[in-house]
Amino acid sequence: MSDRAGKPLRVALLGCGTVGAEVIRLLQEQRADFAARVGAPLEIAGIAVRRPQRRRDLDVDPALFTADAAGLVARDDIDIVVEVIGGIEPARSLILSAMSHGASVVTANKALLAEDGATLHDAADKHGVDLYFEASVAGAIPLLRPLRESLAGDTVHRVLGIVNGTTNYILTRMDETGAGFTEALDEATELGYAEADPSADIDAFDAAAKAAILAGLAFHTRVTISDVYREGIADVTAAAVSSAREMGCVVKLLAICERSADGRGVGVRVHPAMIPRSHPLAGVREAYNAVFIEAEAAGQLMFYGRGAGGAPTASAVLGDIVAVARNKVKNALGTGESAYAELEARPMGETRTRYHVSLDVADKAGVLAAVAQVFSKQDVSIQTVRQSGRGDDATLVIVTHSASDAALSATVEDLRALDIVRDVASVMRVEGEETA
Ligand code: HSE
Repeated sequence: MSDRAGKPLRVALLGCGTVGAEVIRLLQEQRADFAARVGAPLEIAGIAVRRPQRRRDLDVDPALFTADAAGLVARDDIDIVVEVIGGIEPARSLILSAMSHGASVVTANKALLAEDGATLHDAADKHGVDLYFEASVAGAIPLLRPLRESLAGDTVHRVLGIVNGTTNYILTRMDETGAGFTEALDEATELGYAEADPSADIDAFDAAAKAAILAGLAFHTRVTISDVYREGIADVTAAAVSSAREMGCVVKLLAICERSADGRGVGVRVHPAMIPRSHPLAGVREAYNAVFIEAEAAGQLMFYGRGAGGAPTASAVLGDIVAVARNKVKNALGTGESAYAELEARPMGETRTRYHVSLDVADKAGVLAAVAQVFSKQDVSIQTVRQSGRGDDATLVIVTHSASDAALSATVEDLRALDIVRDVASVMRVEGEETA
């Protein structure tokens, strides 16, 4: 044991919103258990908030609240800084200052990690402190530590996840009730799942940040949000959801991180996709999250649980606090960054998958042949075609075999230029095993 065994470890919190308040409540309530688990008591040394005078229903000394976050992280008596304010600044500067003053950092800040994780990892390395961030992806689900540690002896090929609860709730309602996107979003807002400004969720920025973090850990490579191809769910139509149902599929917003076929690159993308109802991710309903991992030796693994909310996210933050506190007691460091592989981020055009394309066309002789010719010209092979008529018009639903995203985009462009195609009503990727 180091000479600090038994001495209290001093924890500073940056932020006291839903997650921060829950972390404080549990730190106080389970003080004795945490002291036993860590080998030293955990003491709250300060809580930085915007309005220190605000009344809060928390069992802590009001004198611990301060508006001076910069002063708090620069104190020499802080062992652990917990950052739950989110956003890029001032979070990044505060974390860097905390590290330079010798504190280990626990953060839930996916946006910062996905934009500039390298700066944080480099600073942790330089100052010999821990940087833990389990709560940044999929809330309560233990996922990052399994990737960083349990799977460190394996080779991950693919990570496929539902990592945004709001969009999963909306898509679940669209699938189960036939609702359109706007109606389902209104319901999610009413129930408190969607924020007043839901664009980070709907436009998939939140999921893209999480995908970058997952890809970095899975493939031992630095990945930033700018490497992630992103499409949100606002254009998912009730007709596409219903068509997926007819094919035995369900529409999900998927975060997909995969090693390229040559093993030297990594592709990271977030977009709505149809997956077979038999896939383990298809049964993940409402606001739940799940991540499916395919690894060389382990095979298929799935992690499932609550991806958001005060208590679930606090569970992950507290797990990290205990882990870094244990390291401090032993004067040791936990698992640091592993980015040795330096795989190249591959463009979306190289991605190969299947596609569901729905076209509104004129119902007359030669239309099917003309449409098929466009696919053939781009070397995109058709798996199935289904036509339903509506007077002089018809809807053609085409599902392709695996093709490159570049070839499919060129196909769609050519289809739009055809007179007989009145509208390319929807284009959606189809993931999961190809069946005959
Ligand atoms: N807004 C996110 C979600 C939770 O809906 O899953 C925080 O990342």
